Amino acid sequence: MPFATINGLRLVYDVRGQGIPVLWIHGFPLGRWLWDPQVHALADIARSIAVDLRGFGGSSAPEGPYTMETYAADLRGLLDTLGVDRVVLAGLSMGGYVAFAFYAAYPERVRALILADTRHQADTPEARANRYALIERIRAEGTPVAVEAFLPRLFGATTQQERPELVETLRRKMLTNPAAGLIGALQAMAERPDRTELLPSIQVPTLVIVGEEDAVAPPDLARQMAEGIPRARLVVIPRAGHLANVEAPEAFNEAVRAFLRELEA
Ligand code: MLT
Repeated sequence: MPFATINGLRLVYDVRGQGIPVLWIHGFPLGRWLWDPQVHALADIARSIAVDLRGFGGSSAPEGPYTMETYAADLRGLLDTLGVDRVVLAGLSMGGYVAFAFYAAYPERVRALILADTRHQADTPEARANRYALIERIRAEGTPVAVEAFLPRLFGATTQQERPELVETLRRKMLTNPAAGLIGALQAMAERPDRTELLPSIQVPTLVIVGEEDAVAPPDLARQMAEGIPRARLVVIPRAGHLANVEAPEAFNEAVRAFLRELEA
């Protein structure tokens, strides 16, 4: 497992393929494995870097607090270590929150954005309170509580009905995340800023992708986000929920491939 030492932490990552550098940022409570269906299928057009954020998978899980800005600084350090100047930044859900923080801090390092199943708005007070309640339960009972809390919301109805084995496979992977990292991430999500005002200042080509059955970051919200970003386009993926890239990889990859081709042209 390749890793880099960034900001005193071990960050595990994979690099695969040839072409436009794409940095893939996973959501919660996931890991770099989320992007397996992309890094393999797009290996002829993208040089994919998929990383475990601090606190996930094989990366170090220091005590918090974590913020979206610390994740973004880790990623910038990783790009520096790999000698990659500008990337296409692709984030799903929490990965999108990190991508917004990265763009806000280091816009010169971003060639384009892919914002999948994510939200530009901050948490409501109720959502924030739920996260802190979940943190207390994780402190008492560990990682499985977080996985069981999120699992039903991550997949669309079609996947839940037709592909229970996919849900089960991903559940097992989610369970490998350390509790300290999940607590840090929930705190970071609870305290993340609203990005509504950032949207009109985003100058790079942006692909907004959403599963049509996404209940966490629904298509209406994705539409609003795409309308707010000057050079954005929206693609809605049929029969997919919040994890559109694993639920409907072919449609997802087709949208990404078309987007990367245009960047290359
Ligand atoms: C994610 O998929 O990263 C989370 O569902 C995002 C969130 O809880 O806001």
